[in-house]
Amino acid sequence: MSIGQALRLWITLETIMLPHQHLTLLMRWERGLALKQLISAVIKPGMRVLDAGTGTGVAALWAAQAGAEVVGVDRGDLEIATQMAKANGLAERVRFLQADLNELTPDLVGGRFDALIAMVYFNDARRDEAQSRLVHRLCENLLHPGAIRIPDQVVYTATLCEWPTQDLETRKNRLLAQQQTLEGYYDLQFWPLMNQMQHSPPPSWYPERGQDGMLQSADLRVLSPVWPAFNVNYEAPGKPYPTHWVVPVNADGLANAVLWAQALKYKDTLIFRNESISWCNPALKVSRGETISAALDAQWRAENTLRVSTHQLPFSRSFAP
Ligand SMILES: C[S@@+](CC[C@H](N)C(=O)[O-])C[C@H]1O[C@@H](n2cnc3c(N)ncnc32)[C@H](O)[C@@H]1O
Repeated sequence: MSIGQALRLWITLETIMLPHQHLTLLMRWERGLALKQLISAVIKPGMRVLDAGTGTGVAALWAAQAGAEVVGVDRGDLEIATQMAKANGLAERVRFLQADLNELTPDLVGGRFDALIAMVYFNDARRDEAQSRLVHRLCENLLHPGAIRIPDQVVYTATLCEWPTQDLETRKNRLLAQQQTLEGYYDLQFWPLMNQMQHSPPPSWYPERGQDGMLQSADLRVLSPVWPAFNVNYEAPGKPYPTHWVVPVNADGLANAVLWAQALKYKDTLIFRNESISWCNPALKVSRGETISAALDAQWRAENTLRVSTHQLPFSRSFAP
């Protein structure tokens, strides 16, 4: 297997959700009910609807209940979705197709659609860059002009934080100590394993989530307002992410983390809000009144760590929310 094939397999396995993960997502009532209500309001009888990343098929089934002809696509197993369609008497109106959305063509799905439901996100700005590119491609290649897109906007805001239990330096030192112990006991070099640990942080490095699905942040101190980062708009052609996030500091402290919020919206109605974290590498002492810039670069994409620096230019009013 080539490195490229191995990488694609790893990405595929990582993006396939297990039944218990679908259940956890469905238990986020505010998300499910907002989506259900929205679909019943905007999907009309006779529409052709693509449910991209259909999972258990719930959005496809709500669209079918609204009278649409639906194609639900997912690269994960679709046995549950198929059974759900039968159990709810909607099998006639929904067709499920196991495929990678990156490889869909109009021929594979019987032509273009009047509406796209694409709840394909990891709810993390960094990992969802590729998902947004994918959704833009679906909009371009598979929709009729003027088709409905759910969501039609992904809005990212972020907050600069001092978050003692999320300190990267402490973790790196712990890894270094473990590496030295391993090398001492086993008479082997262990930096390849330790480097990899930094590139793909284990789940235990991330803050836990509360009942509401948000990150638990009891020891977090905010050093900036919640500040706009960027918007993805599916009504317009795709644009790359900005290269930097620039934010005013409103409290003194050690900036070691950025708390991201992602909002999935349709015509300014919120469908779902979720949080994720990136770590500052290295942490930076900041003072109230300064402006800080975080690089959204290859390091951030690879390791989820941000290079932060004091922004040299005077703060521009155009960044105001
Ligand atoms: C967050 S789940 C949402 C499931 C369902 N739409 C819902 O709202 O409950 C995202 C789904 O998108 C699927 N997915 C993500 N990227 C995909 C791709 N490139 N091709 C096919 N399916 C994909 C995943 O397998 C997963 O089932």
